[in-house]
Amino acid sequence: MAGTKDYGLGEFTYPRGWFMVADAAEVKDKPLPLKFFGQDFALYRGKSGKIVLLDAFCPHMGTHLAKNTTSYVTHDGQIEGDSIRCPYHGWRFGADGKCNEIPFSSLPIPKAACVRSWPVVERLGAVFVWHDPEGGEPEWDAPDLAEWNDAGWVRHQWDHLGQLKCHQQEIIDNIADCTHLQPVHGSIVNFFENEFRGHLAIQRQGGPHRTLVTSDGKSPILITDTVYHGPGVLLSRMSGTHDAVILIMHTSVEDGTVQVWHALMVRSPSNSPKVTAQDTEAARMYQAAALQAFSQDFEVWSNKRPCINGMFMPSDGAFRKARLWYKQFYNPRAKKEEFLKQSEGVFVPAGMKAAPEAARGNVSLADAVAAENQAQAA
Ligand code: FES
Ligand SMILES: [Fe+2]
Repeated sequence: MAGTKDYGLGEFTYPRGWFMVADAAEVKDKPLPLKFFGQDFALYRGKSGKIVLLDAFCPHMGTHLAKNTTSYVTHDGQIEGDSIRCPYHGWRFGADGKCNEIPFSSLPIPKAACVRSWPVVERLGAVFVWHDPEGGEPEWDAPDLAEWNDAGWVRHQWDHLGQLKCHQQEIIDNIADCTHLQPVHGSIVNFFENEFRGHLAIQRQGGPHRTLVTSDGKSPILITDTVYHGPGVLLSRMSGTHDAVILIMHTSVEDGTVQVWHALMVRSPSNSPKVTAQDTEAARMYQAAALQAFSQDFEVWSNKRPCINGMFMPSDGAFRKARLWYKQFYNPRAKKEEFLKQSEGVFVPAGMKAAPEAARGNVSLADAVAAENQAQAA
């Protein structure tokens, strides 16, 4: 199993960025034990509804705050207000990680009696943490989608894909991978380009799809505008028969193992301004179909050997640029420009058409689809 060092990514084993750590629906007032970035955490929802992520081990004697089933503390409920009580001797820690009660002691609480509290936000039905080996403030906003609060869009439920025994680099490569689209997914690629800009890696792609053939035997154009917002959050807007957004989140568990979630939001398939029960049912089916497509990548990743140095052809896509872009997250921020200087820009694989202006985000993707359909018919 290859790790960060093998890929030569940089100084840090785990990258800087926003990362999904849980499906918000599973976070209740019973703490969850989590492992990410090679560390243990306890995650819970306080009585106020606030989500709290703490380092797992109690500073008193090292007990795991979220891995106990038999203590009376656990039995009576560990969460009091937004605080959590340790199952071993009952020390209580606030959402800020500071100990705010030591039972059986009348002395002042020592300053060192605290655990680290991590910056988390609840967005898109998920919990995201800002992870930064340098301990800095977030460099960009946590992921969000206006569609989440649009009554005409069906909210997703997360698919929990579990852990994949491969380094995140192998998943990131997908953003540049033009020539897997037809063999793996059956997409005919009319145009393809990448753009790397700051913390964003963008892929614009469009063409007909072999599984989407209508009754008249035609295959409608599907255009995707796929964006990595930092190293662990992928949002892919699709326009074709239905407007949709695919969400793929991946977070390092340990060096060389990654946890993955998938979801899909769809505009009301019946085109109603307020989502109906049938819409939700249809949306779940679309999500299952999207998951099938993603599983095609997943199968390859699960069984391949690490690609440390690929034998990349100029027609493959901007793999080397994507890998340079990715390095910014594994190195101190002071070095970021060094990697951006080498990777920023728009890149089109050799022999491929660049994205038409219409697909570059100035107009709606639906308009871009119409323009591409017209071009196809002409
Ligand atoms: S180990 Fe946590 S209170 Fe003693
Ligand atoms: Fe893929």
